[in-house]
Amino acid sequence: MVKCRCGQVYSGVPEHLPVIGSGENRYPAKVIQQLLNKPGGTAHSGVPFGDAFLFTRRRYQSMKRMLSGIKPTGQLHLGNYIGALSKFVSYQDEYEMIAFIANLHCITVPQDPVELQKNLQDCVALYLACGLDPKKSTIFLQTDVKEHAQLGYILCCHTYMGELNRMTQFKDKQAHGEKNLSGGLYTYPSLMAADILIYDPDYVPVGEDQKQHVELTRDIAIRMNNRYGKLFKIPEPLVPKVGARIMSLTDPSKKMSKSDETNKGCIYLLDDLKTARKKIMGAKTDSLGIIKFDPENQPGVANLMQILSSLSDNRPMADIEAEFAGKGYGDFKRAVADKVCEELEMIQGRYNEIIASGMIEDVLYEGAAKARSLAAPKLETVQHAIGMEIISK
Ligand code: AMP
Ligand code: TRP
Repeated sequence: MVKCRCGQVYSGVPEHLPVIGSGENRYPAKVIQQLLNKPGGTAHSGVPFGDAFLFTRRRYQSMKRMLSGIKPTGQLHLGNYIGALSKFVSYQDEYEMIAFIANLHCITVPQDPVELQKNLQDCVALYLACGLDPKKSTIFLQTDVKEHAQLGYILCCHTYMGELNRMTQFKDKQAHGEKNLSGGLYTYPSLMAADILIYDPDYVPVGEDQKQHVELTRDIAIRMNNRYGKLFKIPEPLVPKVGARIMSLTDPSKKMSKSDETNKGCIYLLDDLKTARKKIMGAKTDSLGIIKFDPENQPGVANLMQILSSLSDNRPMADIEAEFAGKGYGDFKRAVADKVCEELEMIQGRYNEIIASGMIEDVLYEGAAKARSLAAPKLETVQHAIGMEIISK
């Protein structure tokens, strides 16, 4: 039995259900769900949950939902920022944004525990430093919402091995001759499908490399819906027109990635400015000496143009070509380096403030509670539809 602050008593709610809120505002998510399902949603006065949640719910009622995640296998880099994070930030005013940190996904390859924990902290701090606002977006760690893993297993049982065999991310690693690849790496796309489907989002903003996984997610959702009745919304991948695939500075035929062996091709968001500038000035170009957007014949120059354009509100390539007509690669690279350093300086300033403020735990606590209040009832619905449950919660 749960007594609301307004005096109303709710009975029949088992105490072990997921809770939301903190201190005296801690209430089982089910109660909150009941309140929110009432006509008018938030009309109930004296609601037993925190102001933030109330605010959030009101804000979200008419918005489409978006969800995405980043796996902190290493330091976040400029590709993550341009292809994903900066887009999440720009969407959060218009959409209900759910942005989580995929710490289950990152253990699909071996991790050093001390380094991993530091990367997790940095990743949350960088989410915030890049402009994700916990009042507008739901920010949490994947392991703090255990329903992801459970739905992941269920979806894995509805994913064909043939489908997993076709995933290029896994195939690339295999083709690379990497030994002892884990089972988790192989079944990763089913867990990613669960990360998405458990929240019924309308859109999933990702870089180009993740589009295939979102397409598989759609296939799994359609399969489940056909088999068990309508369980999931079918989400759309949202891939940016510019910057969906930022390439390595040293080898523009490969994407910029955390697993860059030399580190010279990848700009990390926490690189000091001198290092970042040096990497840009040393970026591989060509011998043609003209600044033209031609990814096929001038991939290095095109990549730097993409970086410059994305960091300047998607400035048109023709504009950049006109500015640098008749100028050399030195001038052009300096302009790109100036822009990148300006952005990094701003992000790093905020990052330092966030680390010093100690706010990370509060953000994660609140975010996980909000996420759980959506994920827990969804998992129950799915298990019930499959016929896996006896006790009705
Ligand atoms: P990951 O670092 O693989 O977890 O990727 C997190 C997000 O960043 C995903 O949406 C990726 O598609 C995106 N991303 C990763 N690398 C790049 C890149 N080089 N260019 C653009 N987007 C990227
Ligand atoms: N697989 C994504 C990547 O490597 C990270 C991720 C995990 C994700 N779950 C997700 C992205 C759900 C979008 C939606 O980048």
